[in-house]
Amino acid sequence: MKRIILNETSYFGAGCRSVIAEEVARRGFRKAFFVTDKDLIKFGVADKITQVLNAASIPFELFSDVKANPTIANVQHGVEAYKKSGADFIIALGGGSSIDTAKGIGIVVNNPEFADVKSLEGVADTKHKAVPTFALPTTAGTAAEVTINYVIIDEDAKKKMVCVDPNDIPAVAIIDPELMYSMPKGLTAATGMDALTHAIESYITPGAWAMSDMFEIKAIEMIAQNLKNAVDNGNDTLARDNMAQAQYIAGMGFSNVGLGIVHSMAHPLGAFYDTPHGVANALLLPYVMEYNADSPAAPKYKDIAGAMGVDIEGMNTEEGVKAAIEAVKKLSESINIPQKLSEIGVKEEDIHDLAVAAYGDVCTGGNPRPTSVEDIEAIYRKAYR
Ligand SMILES: NC(=O)c1ccc[n+]([C@@H]2O[C@H](COP(=O)([O-])OP(=O)(O)OC[C@H]3O[C@@H](n4cnc5c(N)ncnc54)[C@H](O)[C@@H]3O)[C@@H](O)[C@H]2O)c1
Ligand SMILES: [Fe+2]
Repeated sequence: MKRIILNETSYFGAGCRSVIAEEVARRGFRKAFFVTDKDLIKFGVADKITQVLNAASIPFELFSDVKANPTIANVQHGVEAYKKSGADFIIALGGGSSIDTAKGIGIVVNNPEFADVKSLEGVADTKHKAVPTFALPTTAGTAAEVTINYVIIDEDAKKKMVCVDPNDIPAVAIIDPELMYSMPKGLTAATGMDALTHAIESYITPGAWAMSDMFEIKAIEMIAQNLKNAVDNGNDTLARDNMAQAQYIAGMGFSNVGLGIVHSMAHPLGAFYDTPHGVANALLLPYVMEYNADSPAAPKYKDIAGAMGVDIEGMNTEEGVKAAIEAVKKLSESINIPQKLSEIGVKEEDIHDLAVAAYGDVCTGGNPRPTSVEDIEAIYRKAYR
């Protein structure tokens, strides 16, 4: 049996955030709980939403206690603030961090038995849908607006918890590339590589099938064609628009079929060093692709190379594997992604503990090659220097 879960309604295109007013009227909501983070207020991105709310006389309560790589405390403070706010729906504006925090808040408000947040890790058995949420991504990466996942740090356990729960899916996704124009180059590059990692990992996961493959191949093609342009020229509106769509399309697939150990290995880097999620994935992706080439997924590498623009005519599987890894490395280097863990503050003496944490991550089950702590440790070491 296959299952597909997508959000109810999605809008795409420059300026489409104006639809918030119509959607609020149509659904009869009265007051918004507006979740975002402090940098988005500073860069004027939050203003683009408050303008829409003010113009339509929609009252809101602002909540911005969200850090990049959000924590259990961020969620719990949000739950308290929501309860006091008198709001009846959530607007989540941001990258994965703000949207994931909003998902956690919306779940705990309607499922108070999970108030510790820790018990939501993995596949959580919540009974009620989250508070209805409008999600507006400001990065072209995580696709949190269309996924059934959210990722929260348990600081005590030094762990990034992946929470999988169809009840968390936003009701409305509003993918307005104008909200992404202010992303600096490094963030555009890292978040775009996160989207590419989603597409590649879920293209080769054992649960992949015709429908998820369709999403992921298209996403890989669009990212390969547009990411460098979006990084080099942040005002390239076509590249921004295509990246906004591509990351969503990748999300439609990976949310339903899962990921692999690039994500398992990236999560502990976030928990230990606060490494930006996209940077961690981007750096690890080619190393893990090399490792996973020794799996039944190998023949699919050729398709990845083809989607990335390589002429794959007449290539055998081995050549396809090489071509796909080279294409990913070339794109990553061309947008200045760091290539070694030693360059981004990882400590060599932590590698064993990182490997233990990665092996225990929810995403490990989706890897095409059965793995072990030892194998993961060896990949970290290879990527270290
Ligand atoms: N829910 C999911 O399915 C899913 C998938 C992948 C990753 N994640 C999680 O999402 C988080 C990462 O999210 P992210 O990579 O989108 O980044 P982020 O939300 O952590 O944001 C990083 C920084 O960029 C800033 N920023 C965001 N948009 C900006 C813009 N338009 N202009 C200027 N600055 C901007 C933010 O304010 C923040 O300071 C991680 O915790 C990761 O584990 C979730
Ligand atoms: Fe990701």
